[in-house]
Amino acid sequence: MAIREGVNETILTELILQGIRDFQDLQILFFLLLLVIYILTMTGNILIVGLVVSYGKLHTPMYFFLANLSCVETFYTSTILPKILISLLTGDLSISVCGCIAQFYFFSSLVVAECGLLAMMSYDRYIAICKPLHYANLMNDRLCFLMAAGSWINGFLAMSVMIYLMTRLTFCGPNEIEHFFCDFTPMARISCSESEKFELMGFIFSTIFILFPFLLTLTSYTLIIIAILRIQSTTGRQKAFSTCSSHLAVVTIYFAFYGTLIIVYLTPRTKTMRDLNKVFSLLYTVLPPLINPIVYSLRNKVVKDALMKVISKIVKG
Ligand SMILES: *[C@@H]1O[C@H](CO)[C@@H](O)[C@H](O)[C@H]1NC(C)=O
Repeated sequence: MAIREGVNETILTELILQGIRDFQDLQILFFLLLLVIYILTMTGNILIVGLVVSYGKLHTPMYFFLANLSCVETFYTSTILPKILISLLTGDLSISVCGCIAQFYFFSSLVVAECGLLAMMSYDRYIAICKPLHYANLMNDRLCFLMAAGSWINGFLAMSVMIYLMTRLTFCGPNEIEHFFCDFTPMARISCSESEKFELMGFIFSTIFILFPFLLTLTSYTLIIIAILRIQSTTGRQKAFSTCSSHLAVVTIYFAFYGTLIIVYLTPRTKTMRDLNKVFSLLYTVLPPLINPIVYSLRNKVVKDALMKVISKIVKG
């Protein structure tokens, strides 16, 4: 990195989340907007976990994975939004290097876990629609548990390697992160040692852990759609479609989410791309965890019934 040669290489311990400054012009508006999004996301996802755990009819692989996804999403949202909210409230944009690395670790591990879970969910629907006779046999409790646990472990293990590499970087400035949380690219940009190797690792990791589950999900749903279109009777087709329509809705939303992730991580970094990245990242960061419970609770009859039962129980005391 030739440009850095003249720079005074003091090692930084504190960074500034410069990206939040862009929102400070409309500080109150952004604070309220993000606060509402945070509260709704937490409420919706915790509600789904609670419903699935406590309501017998929802003890199926599909809802198990859904609850797990909601679990990931409550944590995931909590790695990013509270820090932004506090910074907007206090005007203090600083974060320690350790805090920054920790934030990236949890955020990225949960993203990888989430991509894995989405692939598992699509596999579950694939078996249900394309191999219905083997469903009970294939998707047993043990396998579901292993698949979900595998997604979590995969995420945290993979990112531990990344973090090991990250802790070996020195951050020597400028101490400004051009983003509203500590994400990969903005952090790689301010490091002054071995950052090419690190960026290459980031590229390889995002290919393996984001693109691969994405292709798996895409394949499952392509096979599902082909299978549904092959069904001769209209009622049969409708029935098959209704068992996975909310899934398809969620997955379509996540396709947008994957798309932005891929754009953010795999595209070259020009000035316009950087500005676009900021908007994209805000979208992929805060919207999917909010939309997922809404789609499931509003579109899904079983979840709606469970919710109604709980509400009527509470009302009756
Ligand atoms: C999510 O999956 C893990 C690992 O399989 C499991 O221990 C946990 O209970 C699941 N959470 C929910 C809410 O289903």
